[in-house]
Amino acid sequence: MTDFLVKRDDLRECRVSESGAPEIGAGQALLRVDTFGLTANNVTYAVFGEAMSYWDFFPADDGWGRVPMWGFAEVERSEAEGVKPGTRLYGYLPSSSHLVVTPTGADESGFVDGSPHREALPSAYHRYLATAGDRFYSADTEAMQMLLRPLFFTSFLIDDQIADEGLTERGPILVSSASSKTAIAAAFLLAQREEVELVGLTSPRNVEFVEGLGIYDRTVAYDAIESLDRGPATFVDIAGDGAVRLAVHEHYGDRLVHSMAVGFTHWEGSRAGSGDLPGPAPTFFFAPDRVVKRSKDWGRAGLESRVADAWHPFCEWVTGWLEPIPGEGFEAVRDAYLDVLEGRVDPRRAHVLALP
Ligand SMILES: NC(=O)c1ccc[n+]([C@@H]2O[C@H](COP(=O)([O-])OP(=O)(O)OC[C@H]3O[C@@H](n4cnc5c(N)ncnc54)[C@H](OP(=O)(O)O)[C@@H]3O)[C@@H](O)[C@H]2O)c1
Repeated sequence: MTDFLVKRDDLRECRVSESGAPEIGAGQALLRVDTFGLTANNVTYAVFGEAMSYWDFFPADDGWGRVPMWGFAEVERSEAEGVKPGTRLYGYLPSSSHLVVTPTGADESGFVDGSPHREALPSAYHRYLATAGDRFYSADTEAMQMLLRPLFFTSFLIDDQIADEGLTERGPILVSSASSKTAIAAAFLLAQREEVELVGLTSPRNVEFVEGLGIYDRTVAYDAIESLDRGPATFVDIAGDGAVRLAVHEHYGDRLVHSMAVGFTHWEGSRAGSGDLPGPAPTFFFAPDRVVKRSKDWGRAGLESRVADAWHPFCEWVTGWLEPIPGEGFEAVRDAYLDVLEGRVDPRRAHVLALP
């Protein structure tokens, strides 16, 4: 068993660790982690490892964490009913060679990991989907699925909530970290709605890239927020940078209709504006909560089929320009992790890692 471990109180310190082969008991299965994507989203899992219990999904030695990833795994051994060795699965995986799961409700579509330590954690992360019969799956787009599927799901829910609350009719939608995949997918979906005005906020170095996407009506660097008109607007905050948030809230004040706190790509950004801000208090957007709501409204299958329908055109568009950076083995995982942590990845590219 090999693990890529990150020091919980110093995310720059990381190491690869070897231990004995994992055993499985009755009712359990052993998954061999095959391949996963690595973007700022995974770094955010580490940043909020403690605060939002992300370290608890895949427990590690004291003081160390296994960063959660989204990707593909294969059932290597199984003592669980209805789970066959050789089945290829998509789901939430540790940065490790293997994962022991306790499948419940197994059928041809996959299973839910019912391991007791995961019980109190959000259910959206527990499902392992068999690729055969998965409406999202196609073998030739595995890289895009690993990199974008969880982010696209979030973006679908952001677009859905913004439309549901009538925010598209109340001034422009400003999106920070406009060059991130979550922002791009949300903008891609919002741009399809009538009369939506989208403003991408980004770092000066990414302005040209964001403009070139052709999905935002306007691109504005973080240091030029004051150049925006002061009418009503909605803020979708994916950067989580205190200085950017403060600049937006001070600029719009009470004209800001809604401030949605989605992400934290600027994990070392300023803590400015963490106290009282002008305008509405930022509301934390947590995709798993919205999944619960829309699963109640539409049924889980209804939600998934809507997301899958929206996914395929997006996947086709993004495949035209997003270039996967392939890496193999745990040294490559470490290099990719540090690259993403330090914000060194060109937004036109993204890391996809395969394990031997
Ligand atoms: N709330 C939820 O339920 C939910 C669900 C999914 C994702 N998210 C969050 O959405 C965010 C975006 O994730 P992603 O995977 O889509 O990101 P990504 O594509 O990897 O984002 C890359 C962009 O983020 C900014 N960035 C990344 N690392 C940086 C660093 N170290 N310093 C400064 N800027 C940095 C840069 O954008 P700019 O130059 O444009 O700022 C960069 O182009 C994450 O924080 C993720 O956790 C939240």
